[in-house]
Amino acid sequence: MSATPPPSFVQKLFKYPSHLSNAFHTLLILIYVSWVSWLLFFLTIPWVIFQFGKQILSIIKDNPPEACPKVVLITGASAGIGQALAIKYIQEGAHTVYITGRSTKGLEETISKCNSQLAKTTKTVSNYKVIPLQLDVTDENTMRTKLQEINTATPIDLVIANAGISPEQQQNKSQE
Ligand SMILES: NC(=O)c1ccc[n+]([C@@H]2O[C@H](COP(=O)([O-])OP(=O)(O)OC[C@H]3O[C@@H](n4cnc5c(N)ncnc54)[C@H](OP(=O)(O)O)[C@@H]3O)[C@@H](O)[C@H]2O)c1
Repeated sequence: MSATPPPSFVQKLFKYPSHLSNAFHTLLILIYVSWVSWLLFFLTIPWVIFQFGKQILSIIKDNPPEACPKVVLITGASAGIGQALAIKYIQEGAHTVYITGRSTKGLEETISKCNSQLAKTTKTVSNYKVIPLQLDVTDENTMRTKLQEINTATPIDLVIANAGISPEQQQNKSQE
């Protein structure tokens, strides 16, 4: 009586088809997962570099290297030269511009002009503040108190004492 030969490798493999099918499933899942991870990895790295570059550029743009005062107070900024200066400083990189004047309408106009100027740039509008202060420069005590108050809260880098009567206005007044 001859002994039964041991099952071959293929016979062993196909002896339990369900085990073989499970092994294939596992292999497919592993291939799929590793492929997707590589794909994600190669997509993520350029995205991270792009985002980082964007942030650095925005920091450079919002903080130009040239020395622009960051906190500015301009009197008489509800019209004319003062208004133009407020727009210029916000454009050049000042983060906070206090504008003073007697006319609230004029002060609001300055704020709106500053905002529309900012909107034309790539700067983040919410990073900039144009703060109106309805003050009469002839009221010395109120001016002193207010300026000291502001300077304690946010040290002012530059004060422009611009408020006054333009020659044109003076001429109009004398003609009246
Ligand atoms: N334009 C020129 O050719 C010229 C030439 C030489 C000197 N300046 C001087 O430059 C400065 C600005 O001239 P501008 O042409 O821009 O004049 P503007 O158009 O008449 O503006 C004057 C500004 O000063 C403010 N102001 C006037 N009296 C004030 C007071 N008592 N308290 C608070 N704010 C006051 C006005 O605001 P409110 O009305 O809202 O208060 C306004 O925002 C003035 O001091 C002027 O004397 C101008």
